[in-house]
Amino acid sequence: MTIDNDDQLEKLKRSGRVVAETLRVMASKMEPGMTTRELDQIGRSLLEREGARSAPESTYQFPGATCISVSPAIAHGIPGDQVLKAGDLVNIDVSADIDGYYADTGSSFVIPPVDKKIARLCRDGKQAMWCGIEAVKAGVKLNAIGRAIQAFADKNRYTLIRNLASHGVGGALHEAPECIPTWYDAKDRRQITEGLVFTIEPFLSTGSHKAVDGKDDWTLFANGGHATVQYEHTLVATKSGYIVLT
Ligand code: CO
Ligand code: CO
Repeated sequence: MTIDNDDQLEKLKRSGRVVAETLRVMASKMEPGMTTRELDQIGRSLLEREGARSAPESTYQFPGATCISVSPAIAHGIPGDQVLKAGDLVNIDVSADIDGYYADTGSSFVIPPVDKKIARLCRDGKQAMWCGIEAVKAGVKLNAIGRAIQAFADKNRYTLIRNLASHGVGGALHEAPECIPTWYDAKDRRQITEGLVFTIEPFLSTGSHKAVDGKDDWTLFANGGHATVQYEHTLVATKSGYIVLT
């Protein structure tokens, strides 16, 4: 959506705070021996307490309140009987709406002990997202985001998953502009307009280029099985730059 008044901004900020806080608490409660269903239950209670509705559930009938993907899964993992263990790389993605205002956030975490290479990948995955965020400003081309992220990935010898993109959000979980690349697309002529609400969520990988389907209808894996992380914020473009909502 594109916002043009403070009331809309305040409503989005509230949804943003709730999904961010839900993600933060879920991450802090992760421990070996816990199932992903139990972790999802923590997220569900937090969302419900704030009057928020899980967006994947209400939009796509996703079987869970949040997406929990344990490596080698990278996205859209279904909470269930899977037991978390030490050393697991886990992505949690939380999106929800309050009164029709949607926000979306995600992060990858490691359950200690943390492998050095994976720790570096997590740090750099976050950095890749921030490279994209810092390119945002009303009037700039949308492909400046992917250009900045790809420059960072190339320089540090990572790859990007190229069939999962960022997206407009706010009035729905996924809306226009659809498919905002987190890699450089020279042919993309679209512009970032003032008040535009969207996500930036690069999937940074140690070698994979594509998300591929798994055994169920939801869970996605990285082709070749290389370690992959995702970090996601929802933001609003402004004249001077951006406001991060999550
Ligand atoms: Co998300
Ligand atoms: Co998203």
